Amino acid sequence: VENIKIGLLGLGTVGRGVYRIITGNPENIKRKVGAGLEIKKIMVRNIDKPRDLDINPAMLTTNIEDIIDDPEIKIVVEVMGGIEPTLDYVSRALENGKSVVTANKDMIAVYGKQLFALSDASHTDLLFEASVAGGIPIIRPLKQCLAANRVTQIIGIINGTTNYMLTKMTEEGSDFADVLREAQAKGYAEADPTADIEGYDAARKLAILASIAFNSRIVLDDVYVEGITKITAADIAYAGELNYIVKLLGIAKETAEGVEVRVHPALIPRDHPLASVNDVYNAIFVTGDAVGDTMFYGRGAGEMPTASAVVADVMDAARNLLHNVPGFISCTCYEEKPVKDMGATEAK
Ligand code: NDP
Ligand code: HSE
Repeated sequence: VENIKIGLLGLGTVGRGVYRIITGNPENIKRKVGAGLEIKKIMVRNIDKPRDLDINPAMLTTNIEDIIDDPEIKIVVEVMGGIEPTLDYVSRALENGKSVVTANKDMIAVYGKQLFALSDASHTDLLFEASVAGGIPIIRPLKQCLAANRVTQIIGIINGTTNYMLTKMTEEGSDFADVLREAQAKGYAEADPTADIEGYDAARKLAILASIAFNSRIVLDDVYVEGITKITAADIAYAGELNYIVKLLGIAKETAEGVEVRVHPALIPRDHPLASVNDVYNAIFVTGDAVGDTMFYGRGAGEMPTASAVVADVMDAARNLLHNVPGFISCTCYEEKPVKDMGATEAK
């Protein structure tokens, strides 16, 4: 069986990890998929940028047509980030019949509905496991393994940058600006870290989770958002004296007034399981009417954990292509549901 060819959009933190996994363990992938995976072209912004990767420069391009118009490329992996020009590239890839794997919560949380419609129309996969909580399996478990449940609530620590910062501020009394720089250096933060510290990154992820959990289409604008920029060392110390830990939580519930979705700092009792979720780790509690409480835990950001989720999606898309069932996982069955008004947050 011939290798399945991939076009990679982006070779930054996550893209490098994707490249390392696909080129570093080809036999593991081939055994599990039934065909090898081969990265044919990689789109970057700057071809001349030094990269700590053993890579053939001829693979790099700044021209999107080299990927989306190449009939040999069957799967496009989008790890560029942002909306412009990414949304256009991903839309055109789907329209050209390519399966797409993305880690881009900004795009899915706002434009998911139109992209799922495109993938449905072109019978292609649009997979986005890495868009929420980095390496933690959560999209597929919610969509598939827990599908038999009516999900009643989700409570999660779903931003690695802020959890890393709050952990360091709590345990070492570190300064806000210093720990933000550390999180950026470790590759956890978004290109613009405002999205992390102001809570919008968590809000995007919560919109994606709530959409799947409640079988609806919740978008970023539906989420009430408050970040951690107003949290001081004194707040954390005071909470500690009362045996509480400060965490940035994403909370989604189905209520009589509609779906309630909010992100804000919260005080958690020290003996609560979420209180011991530290550093870049994320955790998501999901409660279903049949299963009861479940909890998903792991590294929520960073090169290899995120790439782990991206490459697993690529492997699923590749399997679906081999068996002539692309689009098998995608689903446009949902209901429009009212969203509870939590007081609008401006300028997302
Ligand atoms: P980086 O900023 O590290 O990398 C972005 C890559 O995309 C770079 O290689 C850059 O090229 C390329 N790129 C950006 N814009 C363009 C453009 N207009 N045209 C061509 N190439 C472009 O981002 P990350 O790897 O951190 O994040 C990528 C995506 O993954 C984002 O959507 C992010 O939200 C998501 N994500 C990130 C996680 C993390 O831990 N970092 C975790 C989960 C999801 P060049 O190298 O030439 O600059
Ligand atoms: N900036 C994000 C975080 C990356 O810190 O959680 C993972 O989505």
